[in-house]
Amino acid sequence: MNRTLRTRALLFFGLALFVGLAASLAWAAGDVEKGRKIFMGTGEDLDYPSCAHCHATVSAKDELEKTKQIRPAFPVFNTAHRGAWKNKKKGKLKTAGDAGNICVKAFQKRKKGLTAIEVEHLNAFLASVSPGKDAKQRKIKYAPKLPKSLDGGDKKKGQKIVAQMCIVCHGPSDDHLQSELKPGRRSKMKVAMKVRGWIRDKKTKKLKFKANNGQMGFIAENRLSDAQLLDVLAYLGK
Ligand code: HEC
Ligand code: HEC
Repeated sequence: MNRTLRTRALLFFGLALFVGLAASLAWAAGDVEKGRKIFMGTGEDLDYPSCAHCHATVSAKDELEKTKQIRPAFPVFNTAHRGAWKNKKKGKLKTAGDAGNICVKAFQKRKKGLTAIEVEHLNAFLASVSPGKDAKQRKIKYAPKLPKSLDGGDKKKGQKIVAQMCIVCHGPSDDHLQSELKPGRRSKMKVAMKVRGWIRDKKTKKLKFKANNGQMGFIAENRLSDAQLLDVLAYLGK
């Protein structure tokens, strides 16, 4: 090899190495816009609830005022800094995107979950809605208990809650995920069980908590208090 050829070969390999490194860095960093698409995605034909159906991206304090709705799960605002995502089976999770991937399988019923690259995109998006570095860690509340009595709620308040919270998914128009909830169609017990994530075991006939029953997930007391649940039951139940 003469000298110019060798220099060219070296240059070429140098460039190839640089491009490869840059590409893998970009890959590792994830893409905010691609992550946003994953966050907003509902499948081709409203096949499953999007992350946005269940999680606001503004703080819990601002959620109602800024979005006019309250979602069934806690906002992902600042979640990239919380760092305490856990799963019963998987134990401690590395990133918020990994926690999101649990939701993909549990609630969106996409068994394979996201690819590693998609998790990176999601992490980039979640970081973009996490401005505070000192966000407090938050314990996720599983298996919210059913209230001892299902009576005593306030119908009017219940109607308002249904119009703020349940309507995120249950509504009259075609772009709602699920049909509108009308009063007097279901027993209070049925509504309460669905909201808190309880089902009746077919064999033992006992109640058991099942976080991933259906696509609705469960609504914990830090999103809908027991008193508010009773209001919902007074309005919807028969
Ligand atoms: C059907 C509702 C539902 C959908 C859809 C859903 N989640 Fe969740 N998610 C929950 C519930 C319920 C929890 C645990 C309870 C809570 O919020 O405290 C949770 C927990 C989380 C957590 C950990 C807790 C935290 O606040 O840091 C993250 C992160 C998360 N979800 C992200 C996502 C992402 C990203 C998607 C979309 C890929 C998604 N979720 C889709 C309901 C949902
Ligand atoms: C994240 C979207 C979402 C939200 C928010 C939501 N639901 Fe649902 N709900 C669904 C979906 C999807 C189904 C049907 C699939 C399933 O069983 O999970 C359903 C089913 C139900 C059912 C059982 C089926 C039926 O029609 O009898 C009840 C009861 C119910 N929801 C009540 C509520 C109430 C009450 C609220 C508000 C406090 C609420 N839901 C909020 C998505 C949601």
